[in-house]
Amino acid sequence: MLGCGGFIGSHLLDRMLGDGRFRVDGWDPEDGKIQAHLGNPRFRLHRRPANAPETRAELEQAVRSADAVINLAAICNPSEYNTRPLSVIHANLFDVYPVILLCAEHGRWLVNLSTSEVYGRTIAGYLPGGGYDDPDLYELREDETPLVLGPVRNQRWTYACAKQMVERLIYAHHMEDGLPFTIIRPLNFFGPRMDYIPSRDGDGVPRVLACFMAALLAGEPMRLVDGGRARRTIVSIHEAVDAICRILERPQAAQGEIFNIGNRDNEVTIAELADRMRKTYARITGDARYNDHPIVETSAEDFYGAGYEDCDRRMPDLTKAERLLGWSPKVPLDDILLETMTHFHEAHAAGRPAAAGP
Ligand code: UGA
Repeated sequence: MLGCGGFIGSHLLDRMLGDGRFRVDGWDPEDGKIQAHLGNPRFRLHRRPANAPETRAELEQAVRSADAVINLAAICNPSEYNTRPLSVIHANLFDVYPVILLCAEHGRWLVNLSTSEVYGRTIAGYLPGGGYDDPDLYELREDETPLVLGPVRNQRWTYACAKQMVERLIYAHHMEDGLPFTIIRPLNFFGPRMDYIPSRDGDGVPRVLACFMAALLAGEPMRLVDGGRARRTIVSIHEAVDAICRILERPQAAQGEIFNIGNRDNEVTIAELADRMRKTYARITGDARYNDHPIVETSAEDFYGAGYEDCDRRMPDLTKAERLLGWSPKVPLDDILLETMTHFHEAHAAGRPAAAGP
């Protein structure tokens, strides 16, 4: 498991090591989120990035003896796509290619965590007046939907483009060398341990959940980029991990396939998400003033810098995941937010200022 120390990896380890049937060799320089597993005899952590030259022999040995190679390693934070574009391209493309080659050479099953961002913007999003009354123009279907990325000067797309190239490399090796593969396209997995709270356990601008949570904890306004009009569908990390485990348990059904993993029922605009989060936080703290926690609007340029462009909407078609994996997510957004925000509140609330209120 490459990148085992991150948000998804930490939850996947909880499930796989808790289950007792798996033995995991993990690579990650960070272990803060996986402390609970460090002494587990079924888990071996290599505290290095998988691309470190000195780890090559160990990695090759592990790939040769593995039933599956799960790649979770990525720079996947939108605030870095246009500010550190070369690092983003290297981490998400060039650092992954040697792993693809090893899997192809040894005929090992590569389960690659890609991204819904490979779809880019929807066709509806480009039509004057919008075309959102026609699902054919916005629904994301793994094997049919065109992948529509913006211009090169909008460097937001460095990540999507690198991830798309990895998908195409994997597919090409499948066709030419018989590489067994499964590609997962996550759509906004939310849960405890996602990202970090700036200036508390990390630095920079994390994804929206942690940005809004940080604002609530600090008594500062939640900031809506471009009015918070973009839409996202949000799925529980626990159900997402269940989907990954179903893939691992069903090689015959899952190999050679690309799967969207998301939850169609949990679609919100980012403006709605901000409102749901402040109401959830009022419930968690018992402080009704959070119901009216300030929300302000900001431009994408001010928030992310030049070269940011947003994905307008992400509505996954999930019929393949249901048909081949028997997976269909059920946890409603309010339950996901309650669990996740309670986790952050318990980890960080001590010493926070009182609610800012109107
Ligand atoms: C990110 C990654 O790029 C994807 O690869 C990943 O799959 C996805 O997260 C995910 O979690 O699945 P995105 O959803 O655009 O994509 O990332 P966020 O940073 O969570 O932004 C979501 C929306 O919230 C965007 O419209 C953004 O402009 C907005 N936002 C973010 C705000 O309005 N305020 C903030 O403080 C932060």
